[in-house]
Amino acid sequence: EKGGYDYFMLKEIAEQPKAVADTLLGRIDAAGSLTLDEVRISASELREVDKVVIVACGTAFHAGLIAKYAIEHWTRIPCEVELASEFRYRDPILDQQTLVIAISQSGETMDTLMALRHAREQGAKVLAICNTNGSTIPRESDAVLYTHAGPEVAVASTKAFLTQLVACYLVALYLGQVRGTKWGDEIHAVIRDLAQIGRQVERVLETMEPVRELARSLAHKNTVLFLGRHVGYPVALEGALKLKELAYMHAEGFAAGELKHGPIALIEDDLPVVVVVPSPRGRSVLHDKIVSNMQEIRARGARTIVIAEEGDEAVVPYADHLIRIPATPTLLQPMVAAVPLQVFACELATARGNEVDQPRNLAKSVTVE
Ligand code: F6R
Repeated sequence: EKGGYDYFMLKEIAEQPKAVADTLLGRIDAAGSLTLDEVRISASELREVDKVVIVACGTAFHAGLIAKYAIEHWTRIPCEVELASEFRYRDPILDQQTLVIAISQSGETMDTLMALRHAREQGAKVLAICNTNGSTIPRESDAVLYTHAGPEVAVASTKAFLTQLVACYLVALYLGQVRGTKWGDEIHAVIRDLAQIGRQVERVLETMEPVRELARSLAHKNTVLFLGRHVGYPVALEGALKLKELAYMHAEGFAAGELKHGPIALIEDDLPVVVVVPSPRGRSVLHDKIVSNMQEIRARGARTIVIAEEGDEAVVPYADHLIRIPATPTLLQPMVAAVPLQVFACELATARGNEVDQPRNLAKSVTVE
């Protein structure tokens, strides 16, 4: 049932190109527009939305953080992202014009379920992004967009995360399409890029042997830090979460711009720091900033593990280890940047003798509070 792989996690990492394609299936029409009729919230209701609030836990929360960048860029609707466990105990300001998006692989996470009930009580519409057909969260929502990743058995979320991202991009682009934005041409171009993204994930998977080797060489370390900017920041958080839960190592993700506000004090000789580098095309200011962050940490002895786009030569002098990913539009980069971090955490866990599919103290679906 593991399809020849040693662990479900490895199988599920490998299944990502197909999972991503399945999530897109039937949702892009021949003219290159999105057809999300299944969402069941009418176009006129969507045009009235004046605020989006995303609630989720863990990895699904990281997908939500990335969605915020996409939603605000393509729709200009303000978007907040909150941990479901915090949201449910607050007095959030919501009304009929608020669209709440609850993201959950299992559809059974208690905190996320309670957050969506809390939102519906106040009249907000809830759209679930979920992987498990007929589970509680979609049943209690006004609408659902299924991720179609297939069953995810390993406790650590991989293919569910990538397909949650696809679903989030679809929602963002659809909102943009329905409401009309000045980004109309860009939206069409991105829909085309999204249709290619599975192939790019596949290319990343073909080049992972050096990442595995690197992970094995770091098995004796105690700490790994992760840095990113813009959508690379939630990717850094996700890379750190994977390492905590699988390798039981101290791992932390930071927004690179926050370094000088404290975390840079952690940098010491030979400390591994993974840096997610934004594309040098697109928003080049982000790229330049992260290159100077790399200079700063390297001057203090960090061992940099750099995830950068193919052809990005500016990072070479500051990279102790370089992991190449294919060029994508800035907002889609998490789809390819997250994959090496999954492989890295899985291999490090194996090297440390940990149970990859069933990490200590964790359950696949957290139905308690
Ligand atoms: C991390 C992981 C957890 C889940 C979280 C939410 O790899 O698997 O952080 O993402 O428990 O679970 P769902 O998506 O089922 O609500």
